[in-house]
Parts: sequence; structure tokens; C-alpha cells
Amino acid sequence: MAGKIHVLSSELIDRIAAGEVVERPASALKELLENSLDAGARSIECQLEDGGRTLIRVSDDGEGMSREDLELSVVRHATSKLKEPADLDAIRSLGFRGEALASLAAVSRLRMVSRRREDDTGWELTCEGGERSRLREIGAAPGTLVEVADLFFNTPARRKFLRSAATELSNAQAWMVRLALMAPGVRLALRHGKRLLLDAPVAADFAQRVAVVLGREVFEHLHPFSGRDGDYAVSGMIGDPDLVRTSPRDVYVFVNGRFVRDRVLQHAALAGYRSLLPPGRYPVVVARLELPPEQVDVNVHPQKLEVRFAEGDRVHRLLSGSVAQALAGSPWLSRGRSYVLRRSEPAGGPPAAAAAVSEVREEVQRYLSLAERSRGAPLPRSLEKAGPPAAAPLAPAEPGRETDLGRFLGALWQTYLVFEDGEELVLVDQHALHERITFERLRTQARAGGVLAQRLLLPLEVEPNAALMASFAEHERRLFELGFEAAPFGERVLRITAAPAGIDPLAARAVFVEVLGELADLGQTAAWEEARDGILARLACHASVRAGQTLSLSEVNALLAEMRRTDFASRCPHGRPVLTRLSRSEVEKWFLRR
Ligand SMILES: Nc1ncnc2c1ncn2[C@@H]1O[C@H](COP(=O)(O)OP(=O)(O)OP(=O)(O)O)[C@@H](O)[C@H]1O
Ligand SMILES: [Mg+2]
Repeated sequence: MAGKIHVLSSELIDRIAAGEVVERPASALKELLENSLDAGARSIECQLEDGGRTLIRVSDDGEGMSREDLELSVVRHATSKLKEPADLDAIRSLGFRGEALASLAAVSRLRMVSRRREDDTGWELTCEGGERSRLREIGAAPGTLVEVADLFFNTPARRKFLRSAATELSNAQAWMVRLALMAPGVRLALRHGKRLLLDAPVAADFAQRVAVVLGREVFEHLHPFSGRDGDYAVSGMIGDPDLVRTSPRDVYVFVNGRFVRDRVLQHAALAGYRSLLPPGRYPVVVARLELPPEQVDVNVHPQKLEVRFAEGDRVHRLLSGSVAQALAGSPWLSRGRSYVLRRSEPAGGPPAAAAAVSEVREEVQRYLSLAERSRGAPLPRSLEKAGPPAAAPLAPAEPGRETDLGRFLGALWQTYLVFEDGEELVLVDQHALHERITFERLRTQARAGGVLAQRLLLPLEVEPNAALMASFAEHERRLFELGFEAAPFGERVLRITAAPAGIDPLAARAVFVEVLGELADLGQTAAWEEARDGILARLACHASVRAGQTLSLSEVNALLAEMRRTDFASRCPHGRPVLTRLSRSEVEKWFLRR
């Protein structure tokens, strides 16, 4: 009796396999572009209709295919890129499985035209849902043209999952950007209907391509970086912390010229930013890793989006170290440089607003002339916050108040230090600044062996729960590194004898318990440095002047002197800005003087 198992028809096999490679129009576009790059194209044009749902056309000026190759190109597992099993261990091309065109042919209406430079004529091949229908001779320019029409027309389940044309288009554009960054020496154009969405001419260098693809606006916030470890190298550009995104979509990591979405690499690229950006915010990073191909396995993901490294730690160290080093030396974060927060409003404002402004201008002019007359009069009450008076009220500038940031005018709401620096008004968040200074000090100490501890006059006792008690046993050494000294006192009590210097002894107990809890959550993670920085940021917060605390002029000066000596002084360890500047013209705009 016949059994229940049978081998699937090749048509069904192709359709199932296609599902892995071609997920949506964007992945089809990616495959076609990769083929063009592998074929050595210098210029590639892409045309999409309806977000790629009805048409994806890619034409290149690459090496083209002979008649026989064209016929074979749509056969599964037919490729020119691998010959022997050993080739799989050191892949240099973007494709290698011989699957992409077979998959596209199985789930769309495919038309290809190709001609090799050395041939007099080209050939056209059409397939519909995997059925090869026609091969004919045709006049064509050297290179290859591939048209994928009506994607998933014969797989309704897939088709249903296609999103709106706008969404599919934006996915396709994202791939276009990645590929454009991968191949700066290739001209790339993308059109949707009649709209030209990307036109990237052959770039003289990588930076030029980045500027074209990501835009001048973004490019101005970028800074080059590089690093090397033996035959591993990395280079690219990192964005300043002003340029934030709400997702990691603009973190681009390329391994040997291939865009990858690897969590470890992404983590490495972001590690240096840890204390510079608030949670949930991501920078713009373009990182290009180069390593011997035999050290990377690219054959681990159906769309080749993930890779595996022979020495993952080494790659991680190189990338995170290079980014961190560049950040420390970058013009916007380096020692002592004050940092100008760019304000996002465009000068002038929208035209509609301009009309409204002119309407009220007369009115305002009248008011301004009144104000002019009462110049020198005390500030209106409402500007002085009710409650305890600030140590330095908004006093008129006077000699002896000169600081690094210009003339110190006073503290606003006992939180923001106010300076007049030539033509600029400077506001400094005193807590954020002190926090950063303290954090950097703690971090330096921790790296050098341990945070400076201060002995407590009277030991503090805490009675943690069993989980925290276990955490203590496990993490005693780490607590020591963080500046805490404690020992069990009986079964259920811990006695704290020393706490990090600078921490209010009254708060030490609460901070200790908090840190213990965090260590418990941590378990035995390998990423101790990172976790430690998080805890140090917390300690820094506890050991820093608060908003609402009054500072004397000499304290302000001491704070600014420390700022000069501190790395990353422009951001608090939680990534909030420390300092902002307003130009005179911006202030004048408030009063419609400009
Ligand atoms: N634009 C092109 N120009 C020249 N030859 C091409 C082009 N596109 C495809 N080919 C040829 O067709 C073959 C099959 O392409 P296909 O994309 O299916 O597989 P692959 O690129 O070899 O591997 P993968 O499935 O990993 O992409 C390629 O190996 C290549 O020789
Ligand atoms: Mg391919």
C-alpha cells in the first residue's frame, strides 16, 4: 500500500522557497540590485510602480548574460558565483545561492533582457508564475534589465500581506539607501511613477555618497571615525547626539560591503552613545567593517541579513571602541568645548505666519516704544520665582562675574545658570552638568580599580529580602568596585561600612538597596561595563547638586572649571543636554526686532 509521504512538485518547492527570499517588493528590489552590483554595474536605474506592487524594474550596465546563462538564471540553485564547496567558506559576492531569480520567477510575471558586451544581440526571457514561456532574440544595450510585475499574483496569501503603496515604497527606499551606501562608486537612481526619489551620481569618496544619500542636513552632523585591529578594520561616520531618531533605522552596519542587521553589531555601534542619548533615542551611524571573508559566515539567514563571526568579541570590541574613541575626540563633545544646541526652527518661519506677524507688528512697535522708555526699571515680578530667593538673582552685569562661559548673570529658578557670552545667551542645567562631571569621575575611578569610598561614621544596616541577600553574595566584588563596603551581619542583615565618596550618607542606604536590586536583575551578564555605567549614572545623580539648590559664584566657577576638564560635558549621563545657547538675533526675534 502506498504511504502518505510524497516529494513536492518543483513548482511547489519554488513557491515555498520564494517565501523565504522575497518577502515584499523591497526584498525583490534588494535582490535585483545585488545582482547588478555583483555583475559589476557602474550605473543602475530602478523604476517602481504602486510602491513596487505592480512593477519593479532594474536595469544595469553590468556584464550581462549569454543566451544559455539567461535561461539558467531562473533555475533554482543555478549560480555563477560558487563553484566548489570551499567557495562557501569565503564569499566575496553579494549573492551565492542561485535562488533569487528562481524565487522571483515563481511568484511574479518576470521579464529579463540581457546582452553581453561582446555579443551583437541581446536575449529576452519571460516567465509567469514559474512557467518559462518565451526566449527570443532582441536588440538591447549591453547590460541587464529585469522586470518583476504583479508580485505575488499567484500567491494570494502573500499578496494579502502587502501594505499600502506608500509603506512598501518607503521600505524599498530604505533598501535603496543601504545599497547606495554599500556601493559609492556606482551611480544609482530610483523613480516611483514619474518622481525621481534618489539620484546618486558616482561618488568620489564614501563621504560624498553619504552626503547625497542621507542629505546635507544630516551630513553636517556627522563625523568620520575609523579603527583597526590586525586584519580587521572599521571606518565610517557617526552622528552627533543632536541628531536623534526614535528607532535604530539610521544605524547602518556593513560587513565586507554587505548591509547586515545584526544585534551584536548594532549594540556595538551604539555602545559609545550609551550615556549621551536618552533611552529610546538612537543616533545616526554608518559603520563599514572589513575582515577576511573566511572569518564571516554569511550563509545563516534566508535574506542574508544576519551573519556570524568567527571572533564576535573582537568585532564588537573594534566597533564599539572605535565609535567611543571618535565620540570622545569629536568637536562637539571634546573637552572644554561648549556645545551649541542647534534650534530646529527655520529662520523666518512659514509664509502664513509672516503675514500674521506683519499684521501685529504695528501694535507691537507701539508697545516696544513704551518698553523702551521704561528701560532700567526692575524686572516684572513674575520673572522672579516665588519662594526662597535665588543666591544670585538676575542681576545686571558687573565686573568680577566673568567666567568661562562669559558673564554670569545668575540662576534662573535655581536650576539654570544664566550667562551672557558676547552675542549669546547661555543657559546651563546645573544638575545635568554636575551629574556628567560626577559620572565621568566615578567612571574613571571604577576603571582604575574602584570608586573612591568614604567610611561611614556609623555603619548602616539593611535587611534585604532573600533574593537581594543572594545578590549580595554573588556581587560583593562589584559592589566594592562601585564604592560600597558591606558585610553580612547575622542571617538577614547587611552592614554597610562605606559608601561612594560624595554620596549623601543619609541617602546611602537607599542607594545601596537600589544598586543591589540592579545587580540582582543583572545576574551574571557579560556586559558588566555597560551595566556598571548605568549604575554609576544613578550614583552620579545622587551625588550631584540638585535643581533648586543655590550655588555661589565661586561654586559656579568651580563647576565650570570641572566642566573644562570633563569629557562629554555637553550631555548629562542620561543623555539630556547640559547647555543651550540662544543668539541675540533669536532673542530679538521674540520681540520682533528682526
Ligand atoms: N543583473 C545581472 N547581470 C548579470 N548576470 C546576472 C544578473 N542577475 C543575475 N545574473 C546571473 O544570474 C545568476 C542567478 O541570479 P540569482 O540572483 O538567482 O542568484 P545568485 O545571485 O547567484 O545568488 P542569490 O540567490 O544568493 O542571489 C547569477 O549567479 C548571475 O550569474
Ligand atoms: Mg542574486
